[in-house]
Amino acid sequence: MRERICTVSKVLIVLCTFNCCLSDEYTPIVLWHGMGDACCFPYSLGKVQVRLNESLPGVHVVSLRIGSSVIDDLENSYFMHPNKQIEEACSIIQSDPKLAKGYNAIGFSQGSQFLRGLIQRCPYPKAKTYISLGGQHQGVYGLPRCISLSIKTCDYIRRLLNYAAYNSWLQDFLVQATYWHDPLNEEEYREKNSFLSDINNEKSLNQTYIERLRNLENFVMVKFLKDTMVQPIESEWFGFYKPGQSKDIQSLFNSTLYTEDRLGLKYLYENQRMHFISINSDHLRFNWTWFESNIINPFLK
Ligand SMILES: *[C@@H]1O[C@H](CO)[C@@H](O)[C@H](O)[C@H]1NC(C)=O
Ligand SMILES: *[C@@H]1O[C@H](CO)[C@@H](O)[C@H](O)[C@H]1NC(C)=O
Ligand SMILES: *[C@@H]1O[C@H](CO)[C@@H](O)[C@H](O)[C@H]1NC(C)=O
Ligand SMILES: *[C@@H]1O[C@H](CO)[C@@H](O)[C@H](O)[C@H]1NC(C)=O
Repeated sequence: MRERICTVSKVLIVLCTFNCCLSDEYTPIVLWHGMGDACCFPYSLGKVQVRLNESLPGVHVVSLRIGSSVIDDLENSYFMHPNKQIEEACSIIQSDPKLAKGYNAIGFSQGSQFLRGLIQRCPYPKAKTYISLGGQHQGVYGLPRCISLSIKTCDYIRRLLNYAAYNSWLQDFLVQATYWHDPLNEEEYREKNSFLSDINNEKSLNQTYIERLRNLENFVMVKFLKDTMVQPIESEWFGFYKPGQSKDIQSLFNSTLYTEDRLGLKYLYENQRMHFISINSDHLRFNWTWFESNIINPFLK
């Protein structure tokens, strides 16, 4: 009898330990969607959430919704200034007790640079691993194709950007203007851009930004080699056009941002914490087999 009770309690202990570990095992994940998308559509990030839960059973996933509804969230991806979006995201992650011990972050397209802004600006909780999927870290110079807008709206946005990207009205009004980067006018970009040049420490040097990035366990950037939406594609690996022209590309390693280590990226690279991954496909096109072996297994387990 005693023996039996003992066995039963052993089983219970094992069960309990197993149960406790299930929910505690994986670092929670914060997702930030791209332009013309939202937190939770079943065909985009909703699907990613389900898949993450399959690959990492029980993992807590927060897909950021900026605004009070999914439709607001989608609209805000065009019209709410990233500085405001980041403030809102910061209060969302701060009020989630399950994130208190830290989180891993996955950004999709423009959500990648906003998530990096969040990591640099939001004092807690602590980000561990940062993953950028097709992010535009040095901005864009051109909008070759927009997927989720009508052709007409897309052309309109493109014309506006070509005409007056650094106009302060447009900087406040159109999200995509906040990461427009004209290589023929670097000075103007640095001074008048209202978001990207700040988080890239090109306007001034914010030591907090450097420290927070240096504290990451991993900084991962995925570049889509056949990307038809991002111009230049090298921006997905933090490269851009050489200043003063719009043809030749300069990699991150050749930029002063890196050589002077103005953002902590050199430190991360030299400590084997920066990872460059490429996939031979169009913008955000990947299957789960690829995602598991290139992202989940090496960085999220
Ligand atoms: C994760 O998967 C488990 C097991 O299938 C399920 O019970 C749970 O509801 C899922 N959680 C979410 C948030 O989808
Ligand atoms: C640097 O960034 C932090 C985080 O956003 C901010 O609190 C601080 O005021 C900034 N410092 C300067 C000098 O701008
Ligand atoms: C980087 O700089 C080196 C030395 O100046 C040069 O040979 C190389 O082509 C540059 N590469 C890129 C991609 O910027
Ligand atoms: C998944 O994607 C990888 C990389 O693009 C590709 O090589 C592989 O064939 C794809 N697998 C399936 C089942 O589509």
